Amino acid sequence: MKNFEFTIRPAALEDAEKIYDLLNDVGAENTYFMLEPDERTVEQIKGLVRQQTLKRSLLLVAENNGIIVGVLGFIGGGFRKIAHVIEIGLAIGKDFRKSGIGSTLFREAIAWARKKGFHRLELGVLSTNQQAISLYKKFGFQEEGVRKNRYRIEETWVDELLMAKLL
Ligand SMILES: CC(C)(COP(=O)(O)OP(=O)(O)OC[C@H]1O[C@@H](n2cnc3c(N)ncnc32)[C@H](O)[C@@H]1OP(=O)(O)O)[C@@H](O)C(=O)NCCC(=O)NCCS
Repeated sequence: MKNFEFTIRPAALEDAEKIYDLLNDVGAENTYFMLEPDERTVEQIKGLVRQQTLKRSLLLVAENNGIIVGVLGFIGGGFRKIAHVIEIGLAIGKDFRKSGIGSTLFREAIAWARKKGFHRLELGVLSTNQQAISLYKKFGFQEEGVRKNRYRIEETWVDELLMAKLL
């Protein structure tokens, strides 16, 4: 494990381009995410930042020397019957992984979700993404099912693992 100094804070509109760049870098690894670099826009990131004002979602960034090295999204369900549910997204820059940043973001976001009264956290993860699956299990997420061949990455089919945690 490397030791990086980092700070955690809610994302602001001025961070949108940097978050976009980070997500594109991770997306370009073509291993962990559904979205590839040309499949999202800075405007969509700005939308996520603005959504926080509704108090039903959280976009946290981890910063190291002014560089955004990690981002986490906790997005509250947009309809009444799933208003208690949070959908999760998380990415740490390649050179900054295994330094506890993902865990710190997660810990902070889960505390926020509890305070807000959410009941269920959920996500889908590529079945090949061992590092993310380990992180989620460490935080008490359980496997709920598998969506067979949900992804096609280059010429390979990859299953999606559905995971959740009840608060
Ligand atoms: C998954 C990810 C968010 C973890 O973030 P991180 O900052 O590296 O995680 P941490 O350093 O806090 O480690 C937390 C736990 O994750 C697991 N983990 C992290 N890296 C791992 C690795 N290379 N192999 C196995 N487990 C790993 C371990 O359980 C670890 O706990 P431990 O340190 O007590 O063993 C990061 O690897 C990442 O951004 N990957 C690419 C994007 C991605 O996969 N996002 C999730 C999409 S669903």
